[in-house]
Amino acid sequence: MNPPTPPASNPRPPVRSYGRALRFSLLTAISAFAAQWASGAPDLNGAWSIDVAKPWGVTLHTFLVLRQEGGTIAGTVYPNNSGGIPVRGAHLEGSDIVFRIEWGWTFHVRPEGANLRVVVSYDGDGKDEALAYPVPEASIRAPAALPVPAVRSLSDNGLARTPPMGWNSWNHFAESVDDRIVREAADAMVSSGMAAAGYVYVNIDDTWEAGRDALGNIVPNRKFPDMKALADYVHARGLKLGIYSSPGPLTCGGYEGSYGHEEQDARTYAAWGIDYLKYDWCSAGRIYSDSELQPVYQKMGEALQGCGRPIVFSLCEYGMRDVWNWGPAVGGNLWRTTGDIQDNWKSMSEIGFNQGRLAPYASPGHWNDPDMLEVGNGGMSAAEYRTHFSLWCMLAAPLMAGNDLRSMSEDTREIVTNREVIAVDQDALGKEGSRLFAKDGVEVWSKPLAGGGQAVGLFNRNAAETAASFTWDQIGRPSRPRSVRDLWQHRDVAPGDGGVSAVVPAHGVVLLLVK
Ligand code: GLA
Repeated sequence: MNPPTPPASNPRPPVRSYGRALRFSLLTAISAFAAQWASGAPDLNGAWSIDVAKPWGVTLHTFLVLRQEGGTIAGTVYPNNSGGIPVRGAHLEGSDIVFRIEWGWTFHVRPEGANLRVVVSYDGDGKDEALAYPVPEASIRAPAALPVPAVRSLSDNGLARTPPMGWNSWNHFAESVDDRIVREAADAMVSSGMAAAGYVYVNIDDTWEAGRDALGNIVPNRKFPDMKALADYVHARGLKLGIYSSPGPLTCGGYEGSYGHEEQDARTYAAWGIDYLKYDWCSAGRIYSDSELQPVYQKMGEALQGCGRPIVFSLCEYGMRDVWNWGPAVGGNLWRTTGDIQDNWKSMSEIGFNQGRLAPYASPGHWNDPDMLEVGNGGMSAAEYRTHFSLWCMLAAPLMAGNDLRSMSEDTREIVTNREVIAVDQDALGKEGSRLFAKDGVEVWSKPLAGGGQAVGLFNRNAAETAASFTWDQIGRPSRPRSVRDLWQHRDVAPGDGGVSAVVPAHGVVLLLVK
């Protein structure tokens, strides 16, 4: 039994939660439920498949395992067939059983003949409706872990001597990314002046995959008719093309991953002309233990180094197992240090201001990655986006624009192309900045630069403008420096004898170059 499902309406891609024990949690007993579902009520027990067919020819499978005992329902959801997440707070609403999982997905479930009518809503981001059908529980078991290589230290691939700069499709386009959008992003990267300011990678994130052909080669779905032609198009503009995969059988969005095909995929990427791979843990957490993170990433690191094309290796496992300690050894050029950023002040500032302790782990070729930029996506003010961009530059973070480059406001364009601020990020010394001190909600950060200079940021985390200052001594200078320049105002500031005082806008920044 496999009933057709209606096309999906903008399902929200998963946020992330992997490596959890596949355990059933006991849920709230509900007496009304018990009464309604007493003798004769349809049996919800068992495993169910919810299939969502995408218009580009890919069907995503979410599995639901339910245990009904009297008035209590327990269960586990495998969203897009990835790690198991316990259902929470099952209760009755009318004739629907309603529960949530921690990705922010809410399920309304109702028996319909031998099936379940299921509506999944994604925290305000649309919903899917499908008729779920029973499947043998054994069929949703995760495949066995593949053997992993003995841990060793790969040689440096020589790439990313400064933090990689480019654009990635995920933050703005999520699953709507397609060939046309990527070509137009490449065009806009050139016409907006971003390419001239140093941006080079045009990166396709999740949802480009279809599956494998008879020989096991990864095949793009209908959104990407010809990857090689797309790479040629991007290269013809002096830019480079990036792609995305997972060491698990499925990506975070539920698309085909590289599990068991690591070398083959690396060869395919090389044949297409791919220059950058973001490799996202996702469903690998269902298969491998966290202690296998390093060798699993090493496996793809080896595959990339053996594929005959220089490919930047971007590790995405959200900072698990202190990836900064072993990222370089697996051939990684950058590694995510956090969960997913969101386009709001809270998310951005919590991520950004918590990174300073990782400064010792950044060096040319090896960068901490606090996730991609949200500048220009609409959830923050221009002042907040200047703070976001300045902070990422102080952190020597990869600068991956995450907005729609084709329709940037002038404010956004000015932020992402501010060459004086970008120069702080791209400084040849390759040192990450860190916090010197915080006072009255203003944080003073410093980043050492080649040639003995330093960038100093006064970041105001308050929602009101705040006066702030630092002395030369506080930023590690024995005496008044030769020059101080304001990198957002683009003007020199006369250095005072004692230090610098400034009024910093709400959630804003004053970024100075001190020599
Ligand atoms: C994870 C990653 C995101 C993005 C999505 C795609 O959540 O952290 O950056 O790649 O997967 O599904």
